[in-house]
Amino acid sequence: MNIITVKDAQEGGQKAFNIFKEALADNAKVFGLATGSTPITLYEALTASDLDFSDKTSINLDEYVGLAPDNPQSYHYFMQQHLFNKKPFATSYVPDGLATDADAETQRYDDIIAANPIDLQILGIGRNGHIGFNEPGSPLTGKTHKVPLTQSTIDANARFFENEEDVPRFAYSMGIGSIMTAKHILLMAYGENKADAIQKMVEGPVTNHVPASALQNHNNVTIIVDEAAASKL
Ligand code: GLP
Repeated sequence: MNIITVKDAQEGGQKAFNIFKEALADNAKVFGLATGSTPITLYEALTASDLDFSDKTSINLDEYVGLAPDNPQSYHYFMQQHLFNKKPFATSYVPDGLATDADAETQRYDDIIAANPIDLQILGIGRNGHIGFNEPGSPLTGKTHKVPLTQSTIDANARFFENEEDVPRFAYSMGIGSIMTAKHILLMAYGENKADAIQKMVEGPVTNHVPASALQNHNNVTIIVDEAAASKL
């Protein structure tokens, strides 16, 4: 793992932006994208730039089950607001939160990933070491699936909702196996509350108790962390 320590999320976003630029120069066609507060500085740098994604494809990691694309808490909406409105891709895929047939939806998404191999995958990390919505206990080789969210993730994401009860209890998420097929993985983490997860991901055993530890088995991973997130390494 190539670890880059930065002073803050602003500098991290700039470094991540440079990695995006290199990927484009390298002819990358498919970008795996993530939501959450972590990638926002990257998306700001992308939208402020003159980079062009109009002939590229994006595939998002996950979506809450039950939220429509125009629901402001949905990941569809997040991506429109933070990136796609200003920087459109030729095609952007996000799981369909309103799909009621989970098997059909997860199969549809796996087919999309198989048809569009990911060149650069962006990741954040949950406090419990989750990536996408692959919670502790998820198989490290899994494909897209419907996941029950853990209480820790519900609590962490409650800040975006009016009441804790409004946080969806399930999500559709790309699996760790699908994430591992990306040619290059870029994980970002900022702040003290990510320090434990980063320490376990980098130095701990590879275990499905810490889903991000699977990245130790990938040969091209870059991690951008600020000093607080790196403080337990
Ligand atoms: C959510 C998302 C993850 C994200 C994580 C951390 O659970 N499904 O993709 O990495 O939150 O979010 P944040 O970047 O806001 O800390």
